[in-house]
Amino acid sequence: MLPVFQNPVHSKRCRVKPPAQKLHCDLYHLLVSYGLTWTQGLESDLPHSWQHHGDLVVLGKECFSNLIWRQLGDELWSCVARALGARRLAIQGHVLNDGLRSPNVTLLLGDSAWVEHKDNGIRYSFDLTKCMFSAGNIVEKQRIASLACSGEIVVDLYAGIGYFTLPFLVHAGAAFVHACEWNPHAVTALRRNLELNKVAQKCQIHEGDNRQVTRSILTLLIHKKWNSVVSNNQSKHYTVVSGLSGFISFMAC
Ligand SMILES: C[S@@+](CC[C@H](N)C(=O)[O-])C[C@H]1O[C@@H](n2cnc3c(N)ncnc32)[C@H](O)[C@@H]1O
Repeated sequence: MLPVFQNPVHSKRCRVKPPAQKLHCDLYHLLVSYGLTWTQGLESDLPHSWQHHGDLVVLGKECFSNLIWRQLGDELWSCVARALGARRLAIQGHVLNDGLRSPNVTLLLGDSAWVEHKDNGIRYSFDLTKCMFSAGNIVEKQRIASLACSGEIVVDLYAGIGYFTLPFLVHAGAAFVHACEWNPHAVTALRRNLELNKVAQKCQIHEGDNRQVTRSILTLLIHKKWNSVVSNNQSKHYTVVSGLSGFISFMAC
């Protein structure tokens, strides 16, 4: 019978190594403690990249594919998490081309995949296994935060979890945002993020396909505001933000 590896005692050398080496070292000891043999092929099967989301680490694609790892059971994931300084662990698949940008992330260790990021004073929370996270849109988020949108009504198409809706409301001073999104999990996160950032009363979420909801929102905006535009003798400026593809701004009169 194989020995059960409960509390790995790391050698001093393992403890002081950088995470990648520590992972290698700890896994080696774990495997050997199970009476298994470390082979060179296993080295290329170790994760080469990972992302930290607080205490949750997401491993990059294409690692731990060798069947030998299965013999370690859940102890494998506890060992990996410890080596990388995490309490929860998930693994990245390819983003699914299903229209929802589903992330294809699988939780390996832990009960929940909800994480929170704080960025430019804004809190973004979401379930990593249900909503895509785009670290690459940070420049665009900052650009939006720096816009002067005081009094403007914004329509955010493809709103996701609020990557642009929130900076429009929290920093750019938009009066109101109509946020359109069809992924129910992203909508749940968006609702939560509006509350977390205390701007829920300035946003209406339109859950559904943009191609259906956009026309009715714009018609509603123009008709609803037309009277006030006429009576106030002021022009009203609307901005539509559509993902990263830029803005379409138009005047209602
Ligand atoms: C890449 S995310 C964009 C999030 C954010 N705007 C950004 O650029 O970082 C795209 C979002 O659009 C949503 N989406 C894609 N097609 C849609 C459609 N036809 N109607 C509503 N939402 C849609 C997806 O569910 C996803 O949350």
